[in-house]
Amino acid sequence: MSQSTSSRSTWSNRWAFILVTIGSAVGLGNIWKFSYIAGASEGSVGIFVVVYLACVALIGLPLLMAEILIGRRGRGNPVVAMLNTARESGNSPWWALLGWVGIFGALMILSFYSVVSGWMVDYFWHSLVEGVQVGTPEAAVAAYDELMSNPLRLSFWHTIFMILATGVVARGVIGGIETANKIMLPLLFLILVLLTLWGAAVGDMPTALRFMFNLKVEAIKPGVVLDGMGHAFFSLSLGMGAIMAYGSYLDKRTSIGNTCVWIVVAGVFIGLLCGAAIFSLTFGFDLTPDTGPGLMLKTLPLAFTHMPGGRVFATLFFLFVIFAAWTSAISLLEPFVSWLTERYGIRRARAAWATALPVWLLGVAVCLSFNDWSEYRIFDRNLFGVLDHLATRFIMPLSGLAIAIYVGWRLGKVIVVDEIRLKQRAFTLWFNVLRYVVPVGISLVFLYELGGTALLIYVVPAGILLVFFIIKQVLRDWLK
Ligand code: PFF
Repeated sequence: MSQSTSSRSTWSNRWAFILVTIGSAVGLGNIWKFSYIAGASEGSVGIFVVVYLACVALIGLPLLMAEILIGRRGRGNPVVAMLNTARESGNSPWWALLGWVGIFGALMILSFYSVVSGWMVDYFWHSLVEGVQVGTPEAAVAAYDELMSNPLRLSFWHTIFMILATGVVARGVIGGIETANKIMLPLLFLILVLLTLWGAAVGDMPTALRFMFNLKVEAIKPGVVLDGMGHAFFSLSLGMGAIMAYGSYLDKRTSIGNTCVWIVVAGVFIGLLCGAAIFSLTFGFDLTPDTGPGLMLKTLPLAFTHMPGGRVFATLFFLFVIFAAWTSAISLLEPFVSWLTERYGIRRARAAWATALPVWLLGVAVCLSFNDWSEYRIFDRNLFGVLDHLATRFIMPLSGLAIAIYVGWRLGKVIVVDEIRLKQRAFTLWFNVLRYVVPVGISLVFLYELGGTALLIYVVPAGILLVFFIIKQVLRDWLK
C-alpha cells in the first residue's frame, strides 16, 4: 500500500481547519435530523437533548481529538493513517480495517445525505421562483408527498447536489474544500442569526425552549438514549474517516485540544440555535412536531406562507440548509477520494467523479425507496431507513469505540503525548476519559438500549474476530 505523504496539502492556518471541521459537523444533522428526532421523541425531548449534550462532552470531544490525532500522525487518508500509526506503534496492520469502515461508511451516508439535501434544493428552488404557497397543513403534507412520490424529481435534485459536492472536492483541499467553507460558513452563520431573530419575533420561542429542555424522566421512550448518542456521533461527523481525513492536512504546530473545544462549542451552539428557530416557528403556527423525516418540510413551508416576508425567509432558510449540507457532504466524499489519489496516483478531479458515480447510483436507489421500491423493506424500513439506521446507530458508535480503544490502549503514550501536547492535568483527564469513559459509555448505551439484541451485536463480531485471530496465530506458527 502506498504511503507517500510528501506532497500532501496543509490547511492555510489553524482557523481554516476549525472552519472546515465546523463545516463538516454542522449540516442536515443539526437541522433536519435533530428536529425530526426531537419531534419524534415527544415527551422525552429533554432527555434526548441532555443525552446528546452529555455524549458530545464525554464521548464526542475526546473522540474528535483522537481521530484528528490519528489523521495528523498518520499523514494520509484514513486507511493509510491507520496503517502508518499501527506500524509506528508496533500494532497489527489489521487496524487499517477501521479506516476502511470509515471511508465506505462515509460513502454510504453520502448516498442518502445527498438525497435529503436534494429535497432542500427542490424547496429552495420553488421558494425562489414561485414562493411557498401552502395555505393548510394538508396542502403542506400533500406538497411533501408529491415530491416523495416522484422518483425523477427526487433523482434530479439528488444529481444536482452530488455535482455541487463533487465539484468542490475535485478542486482540491485548499482550492476546493477550504475555499468553499470560507465562503459558505460565514454566510451560513449570518443567515442563521437572522432566521433565529426573525423566528423568535413571529414564532413561539418560549414554547420551543420548554419543548427542547423539558426533562420528564418518567416519560422516557425506548430508543431515546441511543438516539441521543447516535446524534452526537452524526452531528460531530465521528467514526467515518471524515475528521481523520481533515486532520491529516493539519500542521504539526496546531493544538488539537484547543481546536476541538472550538469545534464542539460552535457545533453545539449552531445546532441548538437551529432547533430553537425551527420549533419556534412550528409552535408559533400551531403545528405538531412529530411527523418524522418530513417534519421540516411539512411544517415550515406553512409557517413561511403565513408570516410576513415569508418568501424571502423561506428562500434564505433553504439556502442556509443547502450551505450546511454542502460543507458536510464534501467531508463525506473526501476520505475515499484522498485514498484513491494517494493509492493509485489518480488525478484528484478524476478520482472525485469516479467516487461520486457509485454513490450517486445508490442515491437513486434511495430515491426509489420512497416510491416505486417502497415495498422492499428490511425490519420494516425502506432502503433510506436501513442506511441511516445502520450508519448512525451501529457503524458510527462501534467505530468510535474501536478508535477509543486504539488510541487509548494500543497506540502508546509516547505518540499520544507527542501529538496532543496538553498541560499535564488536562492531558490526564482527556486520556482517562478516552480509555475508560468512552468505551464504557458507548457499551452501556448499547446494552441499555438493545437488551437481548446486544448479545448479537457484540457476540457475533467478537466471535468472528476471535476466529480470525486464532486462524492468524495458527498460520503464523505454522509458517515459521
Ligand atoms: N455532521 C454532519 C451533519 O450533522 O449533518 C453529517 C456527517 C458529515 C456525518 C460527515 C458524518 C461525516 F463523516
